[in-house]
Amino acid sequence: MKKIKNLLIKKNKTKIVCLTAYSKNIAQEIDNFVDIILVGDSLGSVLYDFNTTRSVTLEMMINHSKSVRKGITKSLMVVDMPYNTYRNKSEALKNCKKVTKETKCDAVKLEGGNKKIVEIIKHLIKNKIPVMGHIGLLPQNEKGKFTFKGKSSKEKLRLLNEAKVLERAGVFAIVLECVEKKLSKEITDQIKIITIGIGASQHCDGQILVTDDLIGLTNSKIKFVKEFGNVRKTIRDAVKKYKTEVKSLKYPSKKYLY
Ligand code: KIV
Repeated sequence: MKKIKNLLIKKNKTKIVCLTAYSKNIAQEIDNFVDIILVGDSLGSVLYDFNTTRSVTLEMMINHSKSVRKGITKSLMVVDMPYNTYRNKSEALKNCKKVTKETKCDAVKLEGGNKKIVEIIKHLIKNKIPVMGHIGLLPQNEKGKFTFKGKSSKEKLRLLNEAKVLERAGVFAIVLECVEKKLSKEITDQIKIITIGIGASQHCDGQILVTDDLIGLTNSKIKFVKEFGNVRKTIRDAVKKYKTEVKSLKYPSKKYLY
């Protein structure tokens, strides 16, 4: 696929810029500035206030992705497969086919790098579904407090091995979430496909953030999140002005009447 090939040639040349979107309006605004738009299952916590992404359904992902699709003209669109939709090869293929057909996305993302998930990913790729991997912190499987990965040498070795196995399985990119700095460099240096970091250092081939966090809509306290804007303030200011004008009968003025 041309869009994926164009991304892969950016490795070691220029950083790859990725963001999430859950709706057409956001996708439309970010499309010109990014390489990849991910419809992340983070929408479960960001939009629906779920405690875990495990509550996100396939239907939610499809509906939001259909909206996002309408806002994209150039970026590669990737859709997260939600929890319990890829437990075995046939379930994964059935659901990924449904997602790609209904949302017209370019690829899907699946969490994990163990033997079982790698077999499922191979099956998807054999059936012409492009896959992005995701290792390190796996929100769909995390129990307890979220912490960074790659502390012990055993964990380092496991993650490095998972990245290599995923590369051999045929994924075109791997998200490294909350992966220790030196390890994220080692992984990035040792594989030919692209690594996309989130809390995983500047050594990755690209970076991703949740757009709602970056624009300052969520008031996120996560260590790796940097707010590049303050949309909460913009909303408050606009709503205050609206309220004042409604109360004072300034709005709707003549210009807005039929
Ligand atoms: O669900 C999501 O938004 C993600 C990214 C943050 C990598 O998986």
